[in-house]
Amino acid sequence: MEDVDERRKEAIVLVVIVVLACLALVSLLVAFSYYCYITNKLSKRLKNSKKSDNSGISKIQVTTERGIHVFSFKQLHSATGGFGKSYVVGHGGFGSVYRGVLPDGRKIAVKLMDRAGKQGEDEFQMEVELLTRLRSTYLLALLGYCSDHDCKLLVYEFMANGGLQEHLYPPRGAGSKGGASKLDWEIRLRIALEAAKGLEYLHEHVSPPVIHRDFKSSNILLDRNFHAKVSDFGLAKIGSDQAGGHVSTRVLGTQGYVAPEYALTGHLTTKSDVYSYGVVLLELLTGRTPVDSQRPSGEGVLVSWALPRLTDREKVAEIMDPSLEGQYSLKEVVQVAAIAAMCVQSESDYRPLMADVVQSLVPLLKRHRPSSTGGSSVHSTKSPLSPICHDNDISPRGLP
Ligand SMILES: Nc1ncnc2c1ncn2[C@@H]1O[C@H](COP(=O)(O)OP(=O)(O)OP(=O)(O)O)[C@@H](O)[C@H]1O
Ligand SMILES: [Mg+2]
Repeated sequence: MEDVDERRKEAIVLVVIVVLACLALVSLLVAFSYYCYITNKLSKRLKNSKKSDNSGISKIQVTTERGIHVFSFKQLHSATGGFGKSYVVGHGGFGSVYRGVLPDGRKIAVKLMDRAGKQGEDEFQMEVELLTRLRSTYLLALLGYCSDHDCKLLVYEFMANGGLQEHLYPPRGAGSKGGASKLDWEIRLRIALEAAKGLEYLHEHVSPPVIHRDFKSSNILLDRNFHAKVSDFGLAKIGSDQAGGHVSTRVLGTQGYVAPEYALTGHLTTKSDVYSYGVVLLELLTGRTPVDSQRPSGEGVLVSWALPRLTDREKVAEIMDPSLEGQYSLKEVVQVAAIAAMCVQSESDYRPLMADVVQSLVPLLKRHRPSSTGGSSVHSTKSPLSPICHDNDISPRGLP
């Protein structure tokens, strides 16, 4: 009898052991499959993130699908006469700029990066990525790029009349055309409007907004008919989507164009670009460079010299570029000066939006050419930024 009990107990123990072993085995199997599932998922994620970490390459591949061409060094070498001296059209912070012609006859401008190091690389990357995403008549189009054997080249549409600053301040001296700008008032107004539309696009038609950060007269390029396009996004920053949002950043940009709050705190907003735009407007009005140490004391910094005169009807004509004499009406000048004054205010919140600037300039252009405002899409005839003038202030053209 005891024997039977003993055997029954043993059988029960055995069953328990077998059940427990089975349970352990099942748990092990479950744990193993879960482990396999997780590792598989992680390795997939790792692969994906590696792809996007090579952002230059992956994004650039996308760009090629969107019509940006990847050139070989050889192609650009032969397009620019072997990067010959006679093909150089300018030099900038990025490197030299060459003119060139593609086999299909298209004229191009090629920027050859001569700056080693991370900042140059970052600018190259930023320029390619941004210009791929952004498309506007008022922004210089990137046609392609080349990133061969440590050489970085950017290929743009060719702008036959180069940078605005070359026309505002033609070189003086022997053999030159002689210092006076040939840009007339109407063309200057149109350049002001088209450049404003370029910035308006960056600030208000792109989400999140793009802050140019190096807006200046040499970054406004002119085509053969003096239509303007904004160039050089190498220093651009993607702004914050929130109203009044800012980006904290190292202060870069060009002397004389940098907004005071940005220079002091490094806080960058679209209103920093509005300030720089105001400086360019002052250059267009006065024909003076933003900073000129050769000028008498008190006149060296354009904004400080011009600001008190901008809102004074009696004095505003004093600041005008002498080469424009006889071309503008006082009403127009007062209006443009009012816009410039608002843009260069030290309090960034009081500066206008670029859309307001555009709306204020459109009617001025219409007055010159009723049927053509350079492809304008804004139809308002009322300026939101012209509190000073009334219609009966108009003086006949030619009589300031
Ligand atoms: N797409 C283009 N078509 C024709 N000329 C150009 C073009 N891009 C640049 N240039 C010429 O090359 C010059 C130098 O341009 P670049 O942008 O390299 O320097 P920058 O604007 O003077 O300074 P930064 O490097 O600070 O932008 C311009 O002033 C212009 O004359
Ligand atoms: Mg430039």
